[in-house]
Amino acid sequence: MKLIEVKDYNEMSQKAAEYIIEKVRNHPRINLGLATGGTPVGTYKILIEDHQKNGTSYQEVTTFNLDEYIGLSGNNPNSYRYFMNEKLFNHLDINKNNTFIPSGVAEDIQTECLRYEQLIAQHGGVDLQILGIGQNGHIGFNEPGTSFESNTHVVDLAPSTIKANARFFDNEEEVPTKAITMGIATIMKSKEILLLVSGESKNDAMHKLWNGEVTESFPASILKNHPYVTIIADQAAVAGL
Ligand code: GLP
Repeated sequence: MKLIEVKDYNEMSQKAAEYIIEKVRNHPRINLGLATGGTPVGTYKILIEDHQKNGTSYQEVTTFNLDEYIGLSGNNPNSYRYFMNEKLFNHLDINKNNTFIPSGVAEDIQTECLRYEQLIAQHGGVDLQILGIGQNGHIGFNEPGTSFESNTHVVDLAPSTIKANARFFDNEEEVPTKAITMGIATIMKSKEILLLVSGESKNDAMHKLWNGEVTESFPASILKNHPYVTIIADQAAVAGL
C-alpha cells in the first residue's frame, strides 16, 4: 500500500480528483468503482469543476457503486442512487445507463446480488475502485466478520454504522438496517484501489489498517494483500502512525 499524506480534507479531495482525472483522460473507457459517504464528496465536486472547465469527458466511462440500502428506491433522497446522481452523475456528460448501483428494491435480492456480481465481470471488472473506510474498518458495507471470500451480498448494518450514517437522515430510526454491497472478494478483484481517509474520527481505523494484521475482524486490512493500493489520507487521519 502506498500512502500519500496530505494536509486536510480539501487537499485530499484535490489529489484524489487529479488522480482520477488523469486515469479517465488516459483511459476514456475506464470502469470506475465509486463510493458514497462524506469522504468522496469533495473529490466529486472537483471532478465536476474540471469537467466544466477543462472538458474531461465521461461519455465512455462506466461506473459501479459499492453498495445500496435495502428498501430505498432511486427516488428516495437517502438512497445511494439519488446521492450519486446529485453529487456527480447529473453534472457530467456520463451516460446514466452506464452507471450501475445495486438495486435496493429488487424483488429478489439474492438474484440481484448475483446479477450485480456478473454485471461487473461482464464489463471486464473494475479498473479503479474508490474507497472510503468506516470507523470500524468496513469497506463498502462489509462489516467486521465478513468473509474475505464474499461476493456481492446482503448485510445487516452494524449499530455503529447506523449511528455514523444517521447524520444523512432525519433521525436514526429512518436508517435502513440492511444493505446490498459488493463483497470483499468483489472489491479485491479491482485492478487498482484508491482509498480516501480524512479526519480524526478515522485515525483509529488508519492505525489498525497500517499497523495491524490482516483479519476478517477488520475488513479493510485485506487491502494489504492487494498489489495496487494507494491511500490518500490527511494529517488528522494519520497522526501518530
Ligand atoms: C458508509 C459507506 C462506505 C463509506 C463509509 C465511510 O457506510 N457504505 O462506502 O466508505 O461508510 O463513510 P464516510 O465517508 O461518510 O465517513
